[in-house]
Amino acid sequence: MNPTTSSPVERIGIPPSELTIGQTYDCEPTLNDQEVFEFCRQGYLLLEGVVEDEVNQRMMDFVDEHPEHQPLELLTEDWFVDGVFKNPQAAGAVRSLLGRDFKLPQTLCNHRAECPAPSQGWHRDGGSIYTPRLDYLQVFYYPQDTPKEAGPTEVIPGSHFMRTKANYMAHLRSVKLAVPTTAPAGSIFITVYSIWHRKGRSTANGFRNLFKYNYWRTTEPRRDWKIDPDFDFSWPTFSGEPHFEQFKCGIAAAEMFCWLSGEDYQHTGGQCWPCEAPVKPPACDQEGLPSGLRRYSEV
Ligand SMILES: [Fe+2]
Repeated sequence: MNPTTSSPVERIGIPPSELTIGQTYDCEPTLNDQEVFEFCRQGYLLLEGVVEDEVNQRMMDFVDEHPEHQPLELLTEDWFVDGVFKNPQAAGAVRSLLGRDFKLPQTLCNHRAECPAPSQGWHRDGGSIYTPRLDYLQVFYYPQDTPKEAGPTEVIPGSHFMRTKANYMAHLRSVKLAVPTTAPAGSIFITVYSIWHRKGRSTANGFRNLFKYNYWRTTEPRRDWKIDPDFDFSWPTFSGEPHFEQFKCGIAAAEMFCWLSGEDYQHTGGQCWPCEAPVKPPACDQEGLPSGLRRYSEV
């Protein structure tokens, strides 16, 4: 067989039935309204140290023997699939965002980087589109401690809605709002696929391993994560403010949240949800809040 035309699965000779291809998974959602909305705004969620030490150590032993880009043998290993793909905190967050019976990753790759190295250019991964839909998630796993010196991935919070050109972004050396995903071993971070990111500059010696894989939605979106009956959608409070265009990120995030909730969203402009009025009136919802998210009757 010509190695230049065969797939990675064919090259390693594993029958597809032994991989995770087409497998779905379900578990309890772990994110609440605030956290789902926050994810829509930030475009990423970092779960620190959620994978057990034993799995991380096994992974580090594994990558020493399998330093290749796509070590698909992992997809046949229960300790990996259970410990990483089905990790309770990570899978619970995926379940919250993609609904029940989501599809497990059917492939993965290791962004193994030799350090020290310069930073990568800012980019969105191939196939990125602008959409309020959340049909899939791109997820990353660090099996080892990844401090700033090891060149963790940097993300620009809120940039998954930012309409700009790759050749323009690639010229930027640093972005003030960028955040390094500095993390201890066993950390997993979940992203909206289209978020702008890059490998950070590393100054340490050795190799940094970072696994990347995608989960997929199989069900229609509905608000079936951890419901908080007291969450005030009209005037939510968030940490930080990803600002690129005036309010535009917040508007796009609200549209994504509505899509996830199964609610119709119409932004009419002006002082309507989610562009809040400066003073919160008592006992009412903001103009423009979709009906299913309202706490009070129409005013
Ligand atoms: Fe990338």
